[in-house]
Amino acid sequence: MTQQIAPQPDSGEDFSRRFRNALGMFATGITVVTTRTSAGEPIGLTVNSFNSVSLEPPLIVWSLANSLPSRELFEGCEYYAINVLAEGQAELSQRFAGRMGEKFAGLEIDEGPGGVPLLKGCCARFICRNTVRHAGGDHVVFISEVIGFDRDERAPLVYFGGSYRRLAP
Ligand SMILES: Cc1cc2nc3c(=O)[nH]c(=O)nc-3n(C[C@H](O)[C@H](O)[C@H](O)COP(=O)(O)O)c2cc1C
Repeated sequence: MTQQIAPQPDSGEDFSRRFRNALGMFATGITVVTTRTSAGEPIGLTVNSFNSVSLEPPLIVWSLANSLPSRELFEGCEYYAINVLAEGQAELSQRFAGRMGEKFAGLEIDEGPGGVPLLKGCCARFICRNTVRHAGGDHVVFISEVIGFDRDERAPLVYFGGSYRRLAP
């Protein structure tokens, strides 16, 4: 029998909670997006809205909440990096999901163009030129050109249903 899904009211607490829960059924990896401010301070946040867009030219996408204090800093930077976290890096995901502060304390890092901080021990790292941004509801959507990348043969950190997971062997 054909099941129908009726249009649902797009507001209210119940809608938001159910919408989030449904979105959480889409398993993703976890990244930390990093850059350096014009004052030289490294900044970064945990992001799972990352995805690929285009091979030629090489483009990726991710979105950043309008409400975040780091929004203006990312909008204004020339380069940033997407660090794809590996299986053992849930602690880094938690650290970079906290409010702005000393997120890089005690971390050994590599560097990209403009001193962009790159995390060590990741599955892959993409260096992006901050080119195009679109308003997307309560987020800013970044579509950026990848100008360099590397990868390492490691198992990824997986996010599903609001929890960290591992790939089944
Ligand atoms: C698994 C996970 C995924 C997240 N994905 C995003 C995302 O795609 N975009 C976003 O704006 N915030 C995302 N967040 C929330 C930010 O990491 C969080 O708000 C962080 O505190 C922002 O850092 P800031 O306060 O230094 O700006 C995510 C958090 C977690 C735990």
